[in-house]
Amino acid sequence: MDHAFQWNDSYSVKVDAMDDQHQQLFKIVNELHTAMRSGKGKDVAANLLRRLIDYTVQHFAAEEKLMEQKGYPGLTAHQAEHRALTHKVVTFKKDFDAGIVSITPELMKFLQDWLTNHIQTVDRKYGEFINSKHSLAKGISAGASSKS
Ligand code: FEO
Repeated sequence: MDHAFQWNDSYSVKVDAMDDQHQQLFKIVNELHTAMRSGKGKDVAANLLRRLIDYTVQHFAAEEKLMEQKGYPGLTAHQAEHRALTHKVVTFKKDFDAGIVSITPELMKFLQDWLTNHIQTVDRKYGEFINSKHSLAKGISAGASSKS
């Protein structure tokens, strides 16, 4: 399996900027998967892990900012999930750098499962909230303009 998993529409949260970032995360996880399978050196894996952590942190910050701006009520619980994953991945990277752990199929499965489950359940909820607010606002403005 060259690609660990492929993006498809079932992963869309219907917010373009977030879909783009999720696709980027898929890409990095796939690169890590390919590196593991082809037995690439530790430096390559360390570099990819660093990219994954950096991009994940950036993505979580952008997503949390969006949820805050939109007044999303599930922000705190969502942030807690983000913190938990960030902590796990950062701890893994430290252990990896110390030579205590390596990139294994179990780690890849954990990352893939976490990413897909999180996007399809937790992330999807803010997407629905934002899109329903947007449709409501459009409806109100359409109603207002039809009266004038
Ligand atoms: Fe897209 Fe909540 O991570």
